Amino acid sequence: MQKRVGFAGLGLMGSRMARNLLEKGFPLAVWNRTAERCRPLADAGAQVARTPRELAEGADVVVSCVADPAAVERLVFAEDGVLSAARAGFRYLETSTISPDLSRRVAEALRTRGADALEAPVTGSRIGAERGTLLLMTGGRKETHEELLPVMMAMGTKAIHCGEIGQASVVKLIGNTIISFMLEGLCEGLVVGRRAGLSPETILEVVMASGFASPYFTFKGGAIARRDFDTHFSIDLLVKDQGLMLDEAGARKAPMPGLAAIREVFQSARGQGFGGEDIAAVVKVLERAAGL
Ligand SMILES: NC(=O)c1ccc[n+]([C@@H]2O[C@H](COP(=O)([O-])OP(=O)(O)OC[C@H]3O[C@@H](n4cnc5c(N)ncnc54)[C@H](OP(=O)(O)O)[C@@H]3O)[C@@H](O)[C@H]2O)c1
Repeated sequence: MQKRVGFAGLGLMGSRMARNLLEKGFPLAVWNRTAERCRPLADAGAQVARTPRELAEGADVVVSCVADPAAVERLVFAEDGVLSAARAGFRYLETSTISPDLSRRVAEALRTRGADALEAPVTGSRIGAERGTLLLMTGGRKETHEELLPVMMAMGTKAIHCGEIGQASVVKLIGNTIISFMLEGLCEGLVVGRRAGLSPETILEVVMASGFASPYFTFKGGAIARRDFDTHFSIDLLVKDQGLMLDEAGARKAPMPGLAAIREVFQSARGQGFGGEDIAAVVKVLERAAGL
């Protein structure tokens, strides 16, 4: 018997992940803060819940893909939240990128009601969500990971169990730290290169033929070369993750001077009105600073 899935959060990622669940045959209900966004999935056969509680009441597992910790607080702990409908055997799969502490708090609250939570932050961006090729990293009980594997494999191609609840969130934040450095390095290099009369295509050709090649550079470097800043992952959300990582590092007494500096560049992008654009748009801040 396939689990009945309730999906909360139909943004860039969630709308595509939910569609994959529907297309792979899971009975699906959806909830989104802005109800209008439920319509395409309702047209495709999903039920629509009026509140997170209603969503959880009709589901064996609720999958969450919302923006940030504040959204998860609302989804889970509000009066009409998921927690109010949690009961023995109920499962909650958190795919949003949030703090390890919040992830643990959600799991603890659900466990007091005989339910369980698995954190499963994802990577693979909008294209991975669309194609169902996300990589999921999980934190929580191994048995819950195994139990929810069929649901996860409807949205991705691999799920790696990282450890106890909270630890997968740390791994996810490490991943987005690496992305921050790669993007900053790429953008700073492209701006200096442009100043020196080099085209992005030439720079990328050399980068991709070298030992420091990464598919990430063709993905984001290609977008910058085309001036295509259509959002796959917004600057607002990456700054959220940079802040979460710096908080975690602070709590662990680990310095992150590089990330702290890079966050200021991305923060400038928000200040200049690019927060909703793709993270590649950070190049515009560096271009302006260089007088381009
Ligand atoms: N985009 C990526 O490449 C990517 C990759 C991996 C992980 N992630 C993570 O996945 C999550 C979703 O990302 P996304 O790109 O899909 O974001 P998005 O397009 O901005 O969608 C955000 C979703 O969260 C909902 N939301 C925001 N604030 C809320 C609140 N206070 N209460 C309830 N719902 C709220 C939004 O509802 P409304 O429709 O009402 O605004 C929307 O459904 C984030 O945690 C992000 O960091 C994203």
